[in-house]
Amino acid sequence: MQGSGYGGYGNRSPVMVMSPRLVGNALPSYGGHGIRRQMIVMKPQQIAGTIQPQGQLARSVGASTSPLVVQKTATTEQPASKGFVRPAVAAAPTVYKPQPQAYQDPGTMLSCTSLSQWCSGEAEKSQGLCVKRAIDPRRWQPVVDRLVNEMQEDAEGTISMVSIDLNATEEECQQKFRKAATIVSQNLSRVSDLAKLVYQDALALTDTTHKLLPQAKKILVKLELFGESVCRRWHRDNYVSRAIVSYNCSATQYTPDSNVDFWELEHCGNNDCIIQDKSRILSADVGDMVFMKGLTYPGKAKALIHKSPELKYSNGKVVTRLVLKVDVMDLDDVGGES
Ligand SMILES: [Fe+2]
Repeated sequence: MQGSGYGGYGNRSPVMVMSPRLVGNALPSYGGHGIRRQMIVMKPQQIAGTIQPQGQLARSVGASTSPLVVQKTATTEQPASKGFVRPAVAAAPTVYKPQPQAYQDPGTMLSCTSLSQWCSGEAEKSQGLCVKRAIDPRRWQPVVDRLVNEMQEDAEGTISMVSIDLNATEEECQQKFRKAATIVSQNLSRVSDLAKLVYQDALALTDTTHKLLPQAKKILVKLELFGESVCRRWHRDNYVSRAIVSYNCSATQYTPDSNVDFWELEHCGNNDCIIQDKSRILSADVGDMVFMKGLTYPGKAKALIHKSPELKYSNGKVVTRLVLKVDVMDLDDVGGES
């Protein structure tokens, strides 16, 4: 997506509006990328278990006859951790440390100690919110590489997606959050630690987003792979909010408003023209839970200026990232996909 567009990945995913006949049904294949995608819309009457995520999701990654098989190695069997995670490869001598952060203006990104702080009065003053939780960027790379190999030529795009209808009681919403978290993490079940982490993140981020935006009618949860098709240009999201976690390689970059030439930002200037001082470009770390307020976020602090991280290459191939997103597209009842 260029400029302040809708979703940031305009060259990949068309806006999709679910018709009533699709409600509750998996879409085994759609989208211009040719990727085996899936979207499930959870209506109130479906929370009692009428959705069968496991069978449906068997189609969403890899061929239906070739389910994801991930070798159990030391890399994938380490326990999940919310703090520092030591590289699993014994020979790797490097101790991972998050990159030092450059100075940023107050109000750009609030560093929080927990997700509950996102709902504080202090958080209302920031365009972005972040719970630091640095994970070694290499920790889950073998898993992502395996996913990419399973998906072959279409090795990027949405792995699984759930649209949560929030027109329900609080108890029903909580059930839906749990079911959505199960669905988006299902494909990783053979890598139990990563599946558990994605499940916990999806559950926590949907619940927190619901608390932050109780007026929202829908929340969209997606687990995606990103290779070449990313939003490389600085932009603001033309929707309400996105919570995002990157599980390998690198994570979202952002910068304060004061570091941006807004005329260039809004008139198709390139990145070099938009950014005034590159030393003030900041980056989330792999594992961080980041909440980015979009242009239509209710409140004064909004519209975090951000972009996808620079691509990284290994053996001549782009390193694919695994990313969880929890989006609120709008505050009406017509939200679609970015
Ligand atoms: Fe974006």
